[in-house]
Amino acid sequence: MTRIVEGCLFGRPHGDNLCMFSQPDLSLLPDSPCYLNGEIGPLREARISVLDRGFIFGDGVYEVVPVYGGRPFRLEQHLARLSRSLDEIRIPNPHDAAGWRALIEQLVQANAAHQGREARDIHQFVYLQISRGVAPRDHAMPAGLAPTVFAMVQPLKPVPAAQRVSGVTCVSADDFRWEKAHIKSTSLLGAVLSRQISADVGATETVMFRQGFLSEASSSNVWVVVQGKVLGPPKDHLVLEGIRYGLMAELCQRQGLPFELRRISRAEVMAADELLLSSATKEVLAITTLDGRPVGHGPLAGKPGPIYAQLYEAYQLAKQAS
Ligand code: PDD
Repeated sequence: MTRIVEGCLFGRPHGDNLCMFSQPDLSLLPDSPCYLNGEIGPLREARISVLDRGFIFGDGVYEVVPVYGGRPFRLEQHLARLSRSLDEIRIPNPHDAAGWRALIEQLVQANAAHQGREARDIHQFVYLQISRGVAPRDHAMPAGLAPTVFAMVQPLKPVPAAQRVSGVTCVSADDFRWEKAHIKSTSLLGAVLSRQISADVGATETVMFRQGFLSEASSSNVWVVVQGKVLGPPKDHLVLEGIRYGLMAELCQRQGLPFELRRISRAEVMAADELLLSSATKEVLAITTLDGRPVGHGPLAGKPGPIYAQLYEAYQLAKQAS
């Protein structure tokens, strides 16, 4: 029989024997400083309501910003995309750009201090999430809610050296996600299911096609190299415009590489000279096997190609210059 317990203390970090609800082992969670609705405190103790619409509906948006040596990379572009995502789902932006910058700066410093290090000596990434807020469950958007604002910092682990040298394996799948992929939404079940298709076979990413045309991967954009030209799918509602979309265009221009956004058929992807992934955490990474077949032709088949090498180098220079 279910016992009813009054006043279960969700806010308590450790062992509350009265609490009927089984709790995860909080001691296993990071205790690094995070930001929640105006306060900074240990991540493992942060609490939100179960009626938060982010929890109930995935009704929120997020950003992932790499921070190299204490300096957020392409922050202006991340904040502009955050603002676009918030506008799309009609949540008022809780901070202006200066407010976000200050919040991020404070959190990055606090996390470095927590590790006993200087922010300039480490690479981290900031995760920002804004949900519509807390309200009785009802699909329609309640007016005047205070958004829930959350931010945390995690170590930015470099892509393993072996993956830099050999590239990564991917599989392809139909893009069964919704048709508003341009919103960086926390409703990520489609992305989770898509990513698991590759995880189940030990691959790094799932490259998705919608009606026979390339869209993107479960949490990365995909680039196709054909005869020295770098191709990407158009920036429309079917893909998330990664912050590396603009960066790839810039890097290609700097390297004198032709760059074009257009619809790319499955046949073109399968016959590509090179395939690349890009994201905040992967930077730019070569796909060397797709669906069990080596990417590319001749002696370079199944190996990271020259355009990858050029763009990776240019990416590192862009990080240093930021
Ligand atoms: N993912 N497409 C999708 C569906 C993504 O989730 C991401 C990023 C990208 C690349 O965007 P950017 O270059 O801005 O990182 C493309 C992040 C890293 C994540 O969800 O963790």
